Amino acid sequence: MKNKTIIVSNRLPLQISVENNDVKVSPSVGGLATGMKSVHQEGDSLWIGWSGLTEEEVNPKIQSQIDQAAKNEKCLAINLTEKELNDYYYGFSNRTIWPLFHYFMEYTKFDEQEWMGYKKVNEKFAEKILENLEDGDTVWVHDYQLLLVPGIIKKNKPKVTIGFFLHIPFPSYEVFRTLPWRESLLQGMLGADLLGFHTYDYERHFLSSVSRILRYETQFNEITLKNRLVKVDSFPMGIDYEKFEQAALEHYEKTQEQKSELQVRLDQHLETTPGSKMILSIDRLDYTKGIANRIRAFEHFLEKYPEFKEKVRLIMLAVPSRSNVPQYQKLKREIDELVGRINGKFSTVSWTPIWYFFRSMPFDNLIDLYTSCDIALLTPRRDGMNLVAKEYVATRTDLSGVLILSEMAGAAHEMNEALIINPNNYDQIADALKQAYEMPLIEQKSRNRTIQKRLKRYGIKKWSSEFIKALEATKVNHISKKAKQLDERTKTYITEQLNNATNKILFLDFDGTLVNFQDDPEKVAPDQDVYEIIEKLKNKNCDVVIISGRDKEFLNTHFGDKNITLIAEHGLWLKKKNEDWETTENVKKNWMSSIRPVIESFVDRTPGTFMEEKNYSLAWHYRKSDPELGGQRANELSNVLKDLSSNHDLSVLNGNKVIEIKNSGVNKGRAATKQLTKKYDFIFAIGDDWTDEYMFRELPDETFTVKVGLQKTDAEYYVEDTAEVKKLLKKFTE
Ligand code: UDP
Ligand code: G6P
Repeated sequence: MKNKTIIVSNRLPLQISVENNDVKVSPSVGGLATGMKSVHQEGDSLWIGWSGLTEEEVNPKIQSQIDQAAKNEKCLAINLTEKELNDYYYGFSNRTIWPLFHYFMEYTKFDEQEWMGYKKVNEKFAEKILENLEDGDTVWVHDYQLLLVPGIIKKNKPKVTIGFFLHIPFPSYEVFRTLPWRESLLQGMLGADLLGFHTYDYERHFLSSVSRILRYETQFNEITLKNRLVKVDSFPMGIDYEKFEQAALEHYEKTQEQKSELQVRLDQHLETTPGSKMILSIDRLDYTKGIANRIRAFEHFLEKYPEFKEKVRLIMLAVPSRSNVPQYQKLKREIDELVGRINGKFSTVSWTPIWYFFRSMPFDNLIDLYTSCDIALLTPRRDGMNLVAKEYVATRTDLSGVLILSEMAGAAHEMNEALIINPNNYDQIADALKQAYEMPLIEQKSRNRTIQKRLKRYGIKKWSSEFIKALEATKVNHISKKAKQLDERTKTYITEQLNNATNKILFLDFDGTLVNFQDDPEKVAPDQDVYEIIEKLKNKNCDVVIISGRDKEFLNTHFGDKNITLIAEHGLWLKKKNEDWETTENVKKNWMSSIRPVIESFVDRTPGTFMEEKNYSLAWHYRKSDPELGGQRANELSNVLKDLSSNHDLSVLNGNKVIEIKNSGVNKGRAATKQLTKKYDFIFAIGDDWTDEYMFRELPDETFTVKVGLQKTDAEYYVEDTAEVKKLLKKFTE
C-alpha cells in the first residue's frame, strides 16, 4: 500500500454541528483550513482533527453520522469533552498562546489547569495519530493548538518523519520567555524533523528562543539535539490561485438571474451612486485583525477628506470566531458600537458609510465581494500571513483594484506593490485610502500584475510540495554524513579486533567524551565508571592515553596516580606511565603578554565569559554567555586572534564554546602520533571537539576513529553522547 501523509490540525476543513438530532456539515473558516483543504483534496492523506462538537452533544446515531461525514472527506474526527474544550481550546490555545504569540500580552492568561487540559488534549490527538499510523507514513502537524504533538509522536515512534507548520507568528524571545511552560512547548515542537514558519522573522525568533532557553546549538537553520538534527525554514503560505481566478472569471459570465442576492445589492449601490467606490474588509472577528483601528481610521479619512463622503462605502465582513472567549465578546460590542456611532455621525438619506455583516459567507459570496470592491483595506495589528489579501488580488482578473495592507501581516513581505501601512497610523491609512481612490488604472494594473505573478508561482500546491520536499530531505540528513553511526554489529567487530590484537592503544579525549560539559569547567570530574573502565582496559593490556586540552595540573589531580599516559594542553605536556611531566615542544610564551589584554577586553565586554590561562596557551570560554552574543563575539575574537597570530607561529582553535590560542604545531594529532612508539595492531581514538579532528586526520588509516555528537567530522564513526561512549568502552572491557 502507498504511504500516506497524516495531516493533523485542531480544526478539520469541515465544521460539524447538530440540528434537530441530525448533523449539519459546513466548511471551516480560517487560513489553515481553506489553504490545507486544497492540498488534502489532491494528495493521499488522512486528516485528523476536532469535529467541532463536544462528547456531551454526541449520541450513537450522531456519532455514526459524524464518522461518515468525516470519512467522505478523508477525515477522522475527534470529539472533545466540554471541559477539554474549555481548558484546551478556549483556554490555553486561545487565551494564552494566541494572544501571546500575537504580542497581546495584556490579554494573556497563565493558568495551570488550562495548561494541564492542553497537555491532555495534545496526548489525545497523538493517540489518534498513533492508532492510524502505518510504517512509512509521514505526519504533518499544524498550528499552535498542537505544539506538543510532534514531541509525543517522536517519543513513541522515533523513526516516523514529522513535519510541523506554525500558521501564526512566533514572537520574539523577550515575549516568548514570559510563558511558564516555555521549555515544554519548545521541546514539543522539536519532536518534528522540520519546522516551518510563514516568514524568516518568525523562524529567527524561534531559533533564538531555542538557543537561549534550551541552550541547544543552532547553526543557520539547523538545531543539533542530543541524537538528531532538526531543520527550520520559512515557507510563506500561498493560496489556490487558479480556484480564485477561475471563480472570478465565472462570476463575470453570470446572467442577471444567476447573480446572488448580495451581488444584486452591491450592483444597485454602484448604480445609484455613480463614481463611488467600495472598500472591502474581511476577517474573522479577532482583536489581532485591527478591525476597530480600521473603522477609526476610516472615520479619520472622512473627516480629513470630507469630499469623499457619499463617494465611498466600507463593506465590512466580520466572521464570528471563538465567541466563548471574553476578549472576543468585548470586541464584538466595541465594533457594534463603533459602526453604530460612525453610521449615525455621517449617514445621509441616500448613504450609510459602513455596511456591516457579522456572519460567515459562502465561497460564491466572497467572490462577489472580492470582485465588486475597488479597494481592499486590511489592517491587522498582527497576522501570521493573511490569505484574504492574496485572495483579493487573485480575483482581480482585469488587474484593477488597490490593496491596502498592514505591514504587520506576514503577507506584506511578499506584496510590496500593495499600499503598505502601519495599522496604528490613522493619518497614513487615511492618505492611503485617498491614494487608492485616485490611483490611475494603469498604475493599479502594473502593481497587481507583479503581485499576481508571484502569487501564481508560489501557490498553495507549491507551498505544500516545497514543505514536503524539505521534510523528505530530512530523512537523508543523517545518512549523508560521512561518519556512520556506530551500530551494535560494528561495536562487536571493533571489540573483536581489540581482543585479537597484541599491542593496543586507546586515545580518549576528556571533556565531552568521558564527561559531560558543565557551566564551570573546574567542577567537572570523572565518575567511578570512568575509573573502572580505565582499570579494566589496563588489565586487558591496553595502553590508555587521556588526551585533552586541559592543563597538566587538572589531569594530574584526576588521573595522576592511575598509571596511564596523559597528554595535556593539546599535546604540549606529556606524562608517560609512571613518569613525570615533560614538555614535548620547545615553545616560546613571550606572545602571551600581548594577546592577554585582547582576550581580557572580550571578557569585559561579554558577560558570562572568562579567560583561562594555561602554561602555553590562552583560552576564552563563552559557554555561560548569552548564546547569540557569545557566538558573535567568538567570531570576532577568532578573526582578531588570527590576524594577530599570523607573524608568531600561533594557531587559533575554535573548540566547543571556547576559543584557544597556542603555538602552532601543537595539536592532538601530532601528540597522538608521537605515542605510536611500537607496532600497534589496534589503535582507537575518540573525541567530541574540533581539536580532536587532528587525531582523526593524522593517526594511521587503520585507526578506529569515533566522533561524539552530530557535528561534521573526519572520523569514521559517530556516537551520540557520553553515555554511548561509556557503553562502548564497557563493551571493550568485557
Ligand atoms: N473565509 C471564509 N468564509 C468567510 C470569510 C473568510 O471561508 O466568510 C476564508 C477566507 O477565504 C480565507 C480565510 O477564511 O481563506 C481567512 O484566512 P486568513 O489567513 O486571512 O485569516 P485567519 O482567519 O486564518 O486568521
Ligand atoms: C487561524 C489559526 C487556525 C484557526 C483559524 C480559525 O487561522 O491559525 O489554526 O483554525 O484561525 O480559528 P478557529 O479557532 O475557529 O479554528
